[in-house]
Amino acid sequence: MQKQQLLYSGKAKSLFTTDDENLLIAEFRDDTTAFDGEKHQKLSGKGETNLAISTHLMNEIENKGIPTHFVKSLSSTECVVKKLKMLPVECVIRNIATGSLCRRLGVQQGLSLRPPLFELFLKNDELHDPLINSDHAISFGWATEAQIATMREYTFKLNDILREAFSNAGLILVDAKFEFGIHDGEVYVGDEISPDSCRIWDALTKEPLDKDRFRQDLGKVVASYQEIALRLGISLTA
Ligand code: ADP
Ligand code: CDP
Repeated sequence: MQKQQLLYSGKAKSLFTTDDENLLIAEFRDDTTAFDGEKHQKLSGKGETNLAISTHLMNEIENKGIPTHFVKSLSSTECVVKKLKMLPVECVIRNIATGSLCRRLGVQQGLSLRPPLFELFLKNDELHDPLINSDHAISFGWATEAQIATMREYTFKLNDILREAFSNAGLILVDAKFEFGIHDGEVYVGDEISPDSCRIWDALTKEPLDKDRFRQDLGKVVASYQEIALRLGISLTA
């Protein structure tokens, strides 16, 4: 399958049309951004590592019955995905309080959240991805009530599946962001599931191994992503 036109170039991935109107090629680039794109760096090997982790996790969740956009791998930085009509909301699930939740509500860092906390954000960099509730999404037509119910249900299921997978690898899933889209009227998991979109800590040391290393200038960003891949049993070609 060949790339045709560049459909969209985002902060970390590029999407290309293909000869099949239902399929896109997603290219995972080394671009790494934080703070709505304000901080940017190219980190060699990041795209490849994220694609390998995302592919592994998409396969895992597909096997557990949750539909994903993933179709097949193409190269170390490219895969084929179903073309989705993305819903412009980000579904975040949190097992441990940190990040924007603590800044927003002043709750203690590291607080264990039982049950896990589900939050919706509008996907809009200019507005800094504001927190919204499901009524905003419905009234503004960003998603239907049924789509929100499905995304919420899938998000909790994904959290359970991923928590277990990471736990078996000596890792803690702190929080995660999922994006969903519509294909043939059905809700699919889209985008990526990687250390760029999830917070993942070492279970023993509680050291962050995810994009917080980049956000907070902790160093060893790609090496930490590779450590996650290694512990999940993923072999990287590089
Ligand atoms: P951003 O848009 O936040 O800068 P990326 O660089 O990761 O992020 O770009 C990928 C874009 O492609 C995102 O906007 C995401 O919503 C969108 N996307 C992800 N998967 C699909 C898909 N299967 N079909 C259509 N769009 C998708
Ligand atoms: O990252 P920040 O502290 O600003 O936001 P957060 O709301 O605490 O992020 C929760 C989770 O969603 C983290 O795992 C982020 O990496 C992820 N996220 C993301 O992938 N993309 C965004 N635009 C916002 C958050």
